[in-house]
Amino acid sequence: MQIVSIAAVAENMVIGDGKDVPWRIQSDWDRFRELTTDNFVIMGRSTYESIGRPLPNRTTVVVTRNEAFEAPPAQGKTRVLVAHSIDEAIRTARTSRGSMADDIIYIAGGGQIYAQTMDKVDALDITWVKQTPEGSVHFPEIDENTWFQIRREEHGTHDFTKYVPISHTERLTLIPGTVNDVDDWKRIWEDERIWEHDPERIKLKDEQDATDRLQAVTRGWDENSLDLWTIRLTETAEFLGIGGVQRVTLENGDKVWMLRFQLLPEKQGNGYTPEMISKALERVRQVDREARVRLLIRPKNAKSIALAEEAGLKRVEERQDAIGKTVYLYQGWVRQISQ
Ligand SMILES: NC(=O)c1ccc[n+]([C@@H]2O[C@H](COP(=O)([O-])OP(=O)(O)OC[C@H]3O[C@@H](n4cnc5c(N)ncnc54)[C@H](OP(=O)(O)O)[C@@H]3O)[C@@H](O)[C@H]2O)c1
Repeated sequence: MQIVSIAAVAENMVIGDGKDVPWRIQSDWDRFRELTTDNFVIMGRSTYESIGRPLPNRTTVVVTRNEAFEAPPAQGKTRVLVAHSIDEAIRTARTSRGSMADDIIYIAGGGQIYAQTMDKVDALDITWVKQTPEGSVHFPEIDENTWFQIRREEHGTHDFTKYVPISHTERLTLIPGTVNDVDDWKRIWEDERIWEHDPERIKLKDEQDATDRLQAVTRGWDENSLDLWTIRLTETAEFLGIGGVQRVTLENGDKVWMLRFQLLPEKQGNGYTPEMISKALERVRQVDREARVRLLIRPKNAKSIALAEEAGLKRVEERQDAIGKTVYLYQGWVRQISQ
């Protein structure tokens, strides 16, 4: 289950004044309703009371320290639950999923709750309001070293944006893949040494193909808060390769995460790939605890087999792929292979 903070924020980071929001933007409210309906919304007691009624067709988890706080009874799909800490609110949302169709927990404010959940959320869905109003309540700082803007849609008075995390390991900076890095990604796709076991799989059709592939990666980030990274050395920002996980739906409807890693040949052998894989598994575990991680490897690709086994994945099947070539399926449950 992804956890996403959703907020409308002014240019001076103001989100409220007393108990009120200092603007009224109908299209933002419509968007909030559309995204959160049939999902879970966690909010502080002040925000809950300033809205003044349970939000329809959603489960609201109200966070309060007041043990006597009572929620109104459920009415159909409109439910209000109470939690006495942030962690309890997240646990409550996770365990009372019920028949809710989707898998996102939204953090809906206010200031105190946003501030206490910045290190727990997988993405930020921010409407930037082009105003600088007076106000007593603020959104926390969105640090550029931690949050990467994956989408921006301009709407005149306000912009809808989405941020996903940049990950860091001991030596690596892992940046969500976008067309900004297309020239680096092409170095991977066009290097025949990387694809010696799989030459037909990766050939770029043309320039547009490279852009299309990266846009698909960016959409993956937007939908799942996780996809493939551009891998850079933190010290020098030098490009090393690409990797991460991509969520795919199997024929039977199950969703699994496919692990990917391709490093420039001259950068291999330094332990960068296991360092990246370990972070990828940690991130999968955070957004999808019951997930399966998979990897398809050609039998002759000894290096990738060693890396998969080092990551704790096991060979569960040998199959023929669409072009009739043998491929090994490696798999692991993320709760078993990631700490
Ligand atoms: N622009 C936006 O997108 C947006 C969205 C939401 C809200 N807002 C604005 O934000 C303002 C409200 O924000 P706020 O910071 O004043 O209040 P808030 O975050 O909505 O709620 C604060 C209350 O939450 C409870 N709480 C906080 N931390 C807790 C913890 N760790 N464990 C248990 N309970 C905890 C406490 O309730 P008790 O006092 O009952 O213990 C606390 O008084 C309003 O102006 C509202 O309009 C703006």
